[in-house]
Amino acid sequence: MPKTDPIGIFDSGVGGLTVVKSLLDKMPQESFIYFGDTAHVPYGEKTREQLLTYAQDIMKFMMKKNCKAIVVACGTHSSVTLPLISNNYTLPLLGVLEVGARQAIASTRNGKIGVAATQATVDSRAFTKSIVSLNKNVEVMEVACPRLVPLVEAGKLTGPEAEAAIKSYFDPLLDWQADTVILGCTHYPFLVPSIKKYTEDSLVLIDTAGETVDELKALLESHELLNDSDSEPVRQFFVSGEDLSFYNVGKLLIGDVIKHVDKVKLS
Ligand code: DGL
Repeated sequence: MPKTDPIGIFDSGVGGLTVVKSLLDKMPQESFIYFGDTAHVPYGEKTREQLLTYAQDIMKFMMKKNCKAIVVACGTHSSVTLPLISNNYTLPLLGVLEVGARQAIASTRNGKIGVAATQATVDSRAFTKSIVSLNKNVEVMEVACPRLVPLVEAGKLTGPEAEAAIKSYFDPLLDWQADTVILGCTHYPFLVPSIKKYTEDSLVLIDTAGETVDELKALLESHELLNDSDSEPVRQFFVSGEDLSFYNVGKLLIGDVIKHVDKVKLS
């Protein structure tokens, strides 16, 4: 497999751009294909069966595009579908779940870890299982935050609507005295300034993007797939539904790297 082949990255919408941002910073020489499943956003309210169909369709698309590795840049797919599909592929394939669990264990001082995530992720209890498998002595509280993804998709990162939603989801975590909260949905790191403002910076907020990219780099190295050539990286963005809003909000979130968005039909 050529080292210059792209890395595939996918999410329901703009959330996985948190991983893209970190990839651009840490491995700017890599080409990538980003897929935002905007026809099905938000994922949080979808069933396991629906999510599995989406994951299989997206993986098929990524394979056709000759991706050399895949990052499931979505907490929901990482929790619900990745465990079901991971054995079907031989290429490096990683999600954001274990990385988040490890970071939280390393960060907590009082053993109280919060998880803010989508309803589907919370229902799966995947974060709790992953955290407790690393350390039985910590407690975990998971909170579903269904209003946050639509806010980020609409580019509403600050203001009264974002503040009210953040208050309703973070108050229970503050009352419970969590000292560390995993942002278990990749959309949420874009709300960090608003979350920090509301929580008066009293929580360690775990953004999984940076460590996911570190893990990807190590995986590519071990498979001898790191792009060490001088070729210009090719960065492509695809969506299954709404493309204009992805383009506009995506540019707001990660800037000019998004030149063009292609709409594709997967199934
Ligand atoms: N960004 C995704 C996640 O990490 C999807 C959220 C959604 O579409 O509800 O869970």
